Amino acid sequence: MPVITNIEDLRRIYKRRAPKMFYDYAESGSWTEQTFRENTSDFEKLYLRQRVAVDMEGRSTASQMVGQDVAMPVALAPVGMTGMQCADGEIKAARAAEKFGVPFTLSTMSICSIEDVAEHTTAPFWFQLYVMRDEDYVARLIQRAKDAKCSAMVLTLDLQILGQRHKDLKNGLSTPPKPTPKTLLNLSTKWRWGMGMLGTKRRQFGNIVGHANDVADMSSLMDWTAKQFDPQLDWEKVKEYKRQWGGKMILKGILDAEDAKMALQVGADAIIVSNHGGRQLDGALSAIRALPAIMDAVGDKIEVHLDSGIRSGQDVLKALALGAKGTYIGRAFVYGLGAMGEEGVTKSLEILHRELDITMALCGRKDVRDLDRDVLLVPKGFSGDWE
Ligand SMILES: Cc1cc2nc3c(=O)[nH]c(=O)nc-3n(C[C@H](O)[C@H](O)[C@H](O)COP(=O)(O)O)c2cc1C
Repeated sequence: MPVITNIEDLRRIYKRRAPKMFYDYAESGSWTEQTFRENTSDFEKLYLRQRVAVDMEGRSTASQMVGQDVAMPVALAPVGMTGMQCADGEIKAARAAEKFGVPFTLSTMSICSIEDVAEHTTAPFWFQLYVMRDEDYVARLIQRAKDAKCSAMVLTLDLQILGQRHKDLKNGLSTPPKPTPKTLLNLSTKWRWGMGMLGTKRRQFGNIVGHANDVADMSSLMDWTAKQFDPQLDWEKVKEYKRQWGGKMILKGILDAEDAKMALQVGADAIIVSNHGGRQLDGALSAIRALPAIMDAVGDKIEVHLDSGIRSGQDVLKALALGAKGTYIGRAFVYGLGAMGEEGVTKSLEILHRELDITMALCGRKDVRDLDRDVLLVPKGFSGDWE
């Protein structure tokens, strides 16, 4: 068994074990992947202030996100087709999150259904909604999330049209994979993944198949998105879905201060500063670079969260130091899941927790809730000095 010390170790194992089609689906950004790359590299531009001779006993990473206690302010982001990275992936990830004491967010485009995840977990999870053209279907989806006692709704605003990721087109991404010679050859080397898949019935989009009307072929995520996602989603509709949900509402995909102000106006409980992990608008700012301007605009009026590019506990600390109250990981937990199932997700969370805790101590801080800009050295012009 290899010694796993960081998230990158998990990514390497995941790459060996998961089918190429699903590894590529996770490990890519749109078009040139500039935003995907900068999401991670921009974290490196922020330096930490080492402080000494500060009593570091009794540290705490515990905090709250939208009023819910969390062992550390790191939630699992909604990731479509998680159940194709590893059999029953959503259930495994949700269980790992529950045991660790952090929120799990189930994607609309999950393989395991809302009911299935609820049945196999005890802690309430969060549900991420993609708004579809079919309003009745969306209303039923919201009701199903209520019935499953989901404790927050994450409404994603940055994917009404799909950003093009070249590899998905070239690989013919589908679930379950189509048996082409190229795919079969690749799958023949992934026996661990294959055994898992043979042992489960969950291989289709569980929230959709059998629930949405007129679904002929649901195997292609790209076709479904193009046909079903509502391109007319606007702030009025956001207000309406917030009313239908009636509980905590988190708006995901905010990258601009003007949109952050709109989110505030419609009464969101929190926003997620996010560019969808660099998978949508290539050429947009990295999330960490976009954060300061959004904090200046709304930071004292609404809870601000961040995702996109977090690969370490140090990245988490940097986002919190710039003002975010919570963070999310997408790929960082998918790597763990694809490498080692539930145990791998737990490993991802443990790695991040340890890195966060030690970094906090070496910066002379004891409580994650007290982190502020003083722990950072932020280069001049980090947030941009635009015309
Ligand atoms: C493979 C994959 C699938 C995703 N699917 C969804 C989804 O179904 N809904 C959603 O709101 N965001 C989705 N996202 C975006 C994540 O929620 C999150 O914003 C992103 O992964 C954060 O960046 P990171 O992966 O660098 O942590 C997906 C991301 C990845 C990598």
